[in-house]
Amino acid sequence: MGTYVVTGSASGMGAAIATRLRDADHRVIGVDRAEAEVVADLSTPAGRQLAIDEVLAQCDGRLDGAVLAAGLGPRRGAERTIVEVNVLGVTELLDGLRPALAAGDKAKVVVVGSNSTTSTPLVPARAISQLKRGDTEAATRIIVRRRQLAPAIAYAASKLAVSHWCREHAVTADWAGSGIRLNLLAPGPVMTPLLRSQLDSPTGKQVRSFPVPAREYGTPEQIADWAMTMLSPAADFMVGAVVTVDGGTEALMRPDAW
Ligand code: NAI
Repeated sequence: MGTYVVTGSASGMGAAIATRLRDADHRVIGVDRAEAEVVADLSTPAGRQLAIDEVLAQCDGRLDGAVLAAGLGPRRGAERTIVEVNVLGVTELLDGLRPALAAGDKAKVVVVGSNSTTSTPLVPARAISQLKRGDTEAATRIIVRRRQLAPAIAYAASKLAVSHWCREHAVTADWAGSGIRLNLLAPGPVMTPLLRSQLDSPTGKQVRSFPVPAREYGTPEQIADWAMTMLSPAADFMVGAVVTVDGGTEALMRPDAW
């Protein structure tokens, strides 16, 4: 029995992963805006620090793994909040929890990215580099210049920044060298409240036209099964990998990427 932190544990994929972990007799410290062991708002510096302090207190300084699933989808006018939660809600938490993960035995970290990293064109490289530096204000200024496209660009930029950050850190002495296996899961459209709200929004038609060769959406339970494998000893030799589970969109758009 291990101790795992799961952000976004109150809904969608985070909730499904928390359920799988509890069903396997693990202890879950959920982090979310409500209905969680740690109630914190990851869109603010104070909320992120509260989450780190509370998790460290509740886990007694030792974690067997972490799943970073809290996130926001594209929404007009919310570009700054999207990048705060999707980037700093991952990178600051991982920095803060790293000592507890290093104290575990080959602790596993699964960060929920997105296949929007490879399916969204024209994401400004400068926005991504500002996000990796943690400057969400400068990044948002660049993103909102894209006007109509700003929400989708904010979302893709946030997932690109977090994916780059994870892969760059995963291989270092502080992470792989300290026994921590840090990997990414990149889902395509998965039927959760987040996707439902996208489908019901004014841009729902565009969301529906997104090509998915499997001709169906994923389920949170399918993603939870992949996360469980990435939290298991099967991932002892897995570092900085991106596991794409997207019904074929990535292969359709980038058949020659590997
Ligand atoms: P969801 O909306 O069902 O769950 C997200 C959870 O994050 C919610 O419980 C929410 O309260 C929490 N959260 C949001 N903002 C927060 C904040 N400021 N502080 C604390 N918690 C906060 O969404 P879903 O679909 O399960 O998304 C999980 C992750 O998967 C997200 O990172 C999302 O970007 C990513 N993703 C989702 C896809 C989809 O089609 N559903 C596709 C690809 C990636």
